[in-house]
Amino acid sequence: MIRPAQSGDVPQIAELFHRTVREVNAADYTPAQVQVWAGEAPEPEKWAARLSVKRTFVCEVDGRIRGFAEFEDTGHIDALYVHADFQNQGVATRLLKHIEAEAARLGLDRLFTEASITARPFFEARGFIVLEEQEVWYRGCKFTNYRMERSIAARKPDPTR
Ligand SMILES: CC(C)(COP(=O)(O)OP(=O)(O)OC[C@H]1O[C@@H](n2cnc3c(N)ncnc32)[C@H](O)[C@@H]1OP(=O)(O)O)[C@@H](O)C(=O)NCCC(=O)NCCS
Repeated sequence: MIRPAQSGDVPQIAELFHRTVREVNAADYTPAQVQVWAGEAPEPEKWAARLSVKRTFVCEVDGRIRGFAEFEDTGHIDALYVHADFQNQGVATRLLKHIEAEAARLGLDRLFTEASITARPFFEARGFIVLEEQEVWYRGCKFTNYRMERSIAARKPDPTR
């Protein structure tokens, strides 16, 4: 269900992002911000370029992508978007679990992200804490987001072994 993204996934990823920002993030950001963030139309070239430099995972059900996440070897979660029709069904939780496993495999001690207003409660529910509220500029528009992080508990040796 969770697998690395392939170049053939780019059209679905671009469309999913465009719709999710307009239909889900729109609850927390102004119409002007949403327009800048989502772009005029899906931008497959942008996502194809990102796919080539970041590890991207998709959650796929019946051949359709329900969510995707970008993860960097530093522990940075760069994107986490769930399809507008499949919110609150555990898709992001599954993607995050996969990222946690990857991070543990890489020996990382923390995960961090810049969460949107929309995503902050999700990350808080999953143990992340807010380090800082910040204002960032994107395509000439100012956005509020939150620097958040969570440590990855070091595995204790099993005393029964
Ligand atoms: C944030 C997002 C990725 C979560 O995806 P999701 O698949 O709906 O999340 P899940 O179903 O796995 O988990 C939902 C959990 O988050 C928590 N949660 C989500 N929104 C919440 C809210 N507004 N208030 C309180 N808790 C909330 C719930 O407690 C729930 O936990 P539970 O399963 O223990 O009840 C999704 O809403 C999304 O795509 N948002 C828009 C894109 C975005 O802003 N991405 C981040 C960019 S930085």
